[in-house]
Amino acid sequence: MRYQIALVKGDGIGPEIVDSAVEVLEKIGKKYGHEFCTVAYPAGGCAIDATGEPLPASTIEGCQASDSVLLGAVGGPKWDSLPGHLRPEKALLGLRKALGLYTNLRPAKLYPALKSACPLRPDIVEKGFDLMMVRELTGGIYFGERGRREGKYGPEAYDTEAYSVMEIERIARAAFDAARKRRRNVISIDKANVLESSRLWRETVHRVAAEYPDVQCSDMLVDNAAMQLVRNPSQFDVVVTSNMFGDILSDESSQITGSIGLLPSASLGATTCGMYEPIHGSAPDIAGQNKANPIATILSVAMMLRYSFDLQAEADEIEKAVDDALNAGCRTADIAKEGDTVLTCSEMTREILNRI
Ligand code: IPM
Ligand code: MG
Repeated sequence: MRYQIALVKGDGIGPEIVDSAVEVLEKIGKKYGHEFCTVAYPAGGCAIDATGEPLPASTIEGCQASDSVLLGAVGGPKWDSLPGHLRPEKALLGLRKALGLYTNLRPAKLYPALKSACPLRPDIVEKGFDLMMVRELTGGIYFGERGRREGKYGPEAYDTEAYSVMEIERIARAAFDAARKRRRNVISIDKANVLESSRLWRETVHRVAAEYPDVQCSDMLVDNAAMQLVRNPSQFDVVVTSNMFGDILSDESSQITGSIGLLPSASLGATTCGMYEPIHGSAPDIAGQNKANPIATILSVAMMLRYSFDLQAEADEIEKAVDDALNAGCRTADIAKEGDTVLTCSEMTREILNRI
């Protein structure tokens, strides 16, 4: 098969980690007889510098015309003081919206080889943990009505959280479908004791849950969830939640793995064209120094093969090569302990390529 992949390398370490992941993609292609054709498009800070806008129309069109998108990272201090609509982050939000990517899958699991990097007490993570955060990605307060106005106490600003039944149903289905491929447990997170949008969320999730009698479903309030993630993370299998709660809780769940440089993500919609990216940022402090950990981006490619192209054996092989490299003691700076040999980005990539 031939696949067309749009590369949005972005800023900071984006270009180096995307290049590493493309090497892995090409090696897998050769081994299994697929052709992966890649074309790079600018977005984020580099696009602001080149064209004056974070998400040029040609980038949107290029991504829409591709079979999937691989994104590095966008943003950096250079563009931090620009107004909201011109910030690099706008490129991410804009691409998600333009491609209709309403489901965000963010797995977070404890790698046995890196257990010592986990910031939680050993007795808490004794059983390990392996959860899938399913975050709604194109609705809620990040896309709701917003503005400035004169309020009771003078000038004020507002953002609106609104969810339709349709939006909740489709993200709930994505979560239940994901749970069927895992341990068949969904915890839906909301703030139904306060928010009307959360009450509709809860009601709707329960209705969808009835279509999946083989999957366990329960609710948890978001403040409690923040606490439970550090108290007993192994209780979670699939977590489904709104855009903002998912943004916050997925950072927390990634942090408790102790290896944020390892975590991939997938953004999916109604078609098979998805966007795949590491969950870490652009790390401007180490950009261009060949120090970045390419694993999260390499695992994002594995997710692309799995979710967009249904190439399970190929995805398994990449994930196994990464596991093997970690088990063999390969470490980039972010996951190295004292005394470990520290590999560069290209050396780590080579170690993984050698195991495919
Ligand atoms: C993320 C990021 C983005 C988000 C920002 C950069 C717009 O934090 O992917 O989690 O909030 O979705
Ligand atoms: Mg975030």
